[in-house]
Amino acid sequence: MNEIKGKKVLILGGLGFVGHNLIKFLIDNYSCEIICIDNCINSSPAILNGYLDKITFLKLDAEKLEEYEGHIISSDYIFNLACIQVAHSADDPLEDLRVNASVNLRILEFIRRNKVSGIKKFVYTSSCSVYGHSSKLPVSEQDNIKPLSHYAATKYLGERYTILYNKLFGIPTTTLRYSNVYGVGQNANNPYCGVLGIFIKQALTGDSLTIIGDGEQTRDYTYITDAVKATILAAVHNESTGDTFNIATCKETSVNQLVDIIRLFVNDLSVKQIPERDIDNIRRRLIDIEKINTKLGWAPQVSLIKGIGLTLDWYKKELNIV
Ligand SMILES: NC(=O)c1ccc[n+]([C@@H]2O[C@H](COP(=O)([O-])OP(=O)(O)OC[C@H]3O[C@@H](n4cnc5c(N)ncnc54)[C@H](O)[C@@H]3O)[C@@H](O)[C@H]2O)c1
Repeated sequence: MNEIKGKKVLILGGLGFVGHNLIKFLIDNYSCEIICIDNCINSSPAILNGYLDKITFLKLDAEKLEEYEGHIISSDYIFNLACIQVAHSADDPLEDLRVNASVNLRILEFIRRNKVSGIKKFVYTSSCSVYGHSSKLPVSEQDNIKPLSHYAATKYLGERYTILYNKLFGIPTTTLRYSNVYGVGQNANNPYCGVLGIFIKQALTGDSLTIIGDGEQTRDYTYITDAVKATILAAVHNESTGDTFNIATCKETSVNQLVDIIRLFVNDLSVKQIPERDIDNIRRRLIDIEKINTKLGWAPQVSLIKGIGLTLDWYKKELNIV
């Protein structure tokens, strides 16, 4: 990981949940020079209070390459984390396509056309939602891809372009498929990624926890620091080039089990059930992490109970609850 120490790092979507945690980690541990591009459609620079004077922040749509192309040329590492929220992707499929795939293609094409040669790694962040329903669990990188949402379809397109530009033009790229990242810094108003954030906020403010459907649907939850470390490791590791990796825990947890874990920390929880949504109605998700473990030597460190405890503590401070 020390490979990234002091390096210039361009982060698209850097004010988002994963992005701002990545920036803080890179500054605190590796003194990186950070360029953050974000159009603030779903975030605010305030999330980086205390760090803004240590980075270059440009409020820009990532599509406006002409405004930051010098940074593409001079960066050692590029992380593309910009996305529109999954809940909005079906309402505006063309915007979803633009942000998740076209913008990414533009950057890769800029790198190719201009023969940009100093980049050590271009990282595109995709999602385990590309697998859709899987009859085989845990699902691994070579298993069938069956996107069931616009978001999953365009994420898959974004990752294929990313890998293609390695295979055809030798650009050092890698793609990562995150599975339900949660933890400190997550926006509780995000209706999809923030299921745990939403529950924790509801628990701390005395609201009923809203369980969608019967609560027996499962997901594979990844704590934010584990996701951040895996992302950096994938960037610096030679073995990641031209390849795709799941980032998850290979542990399956139902929504009802999440509620039980939160009960360990918060007394007098109430729950209410609401009907299932038509997005992401996948029953079970369990993700194989053998590949990233054997090829890159990564394994998650934070258990779900510990991660929920840390997240609760953070939300208490955010919400001024003693
Ligand atoms: N959080 C998860 O559980 C999860 C799961 C699977 C995949 N992912 C992927 O990881 C990445 C980061 O996710 P996140 O949770 O931090 O998302 P997020 O929504 O919190 O952050 C995305 C950021 O991108 C910015 N953005 C959107 N469109 C932009 C544009 N056109 N130009 C510049 N900035 C733009 C937003 O303002 C926001 O700050 C995304 O690619 C997402 O698809 C996340």
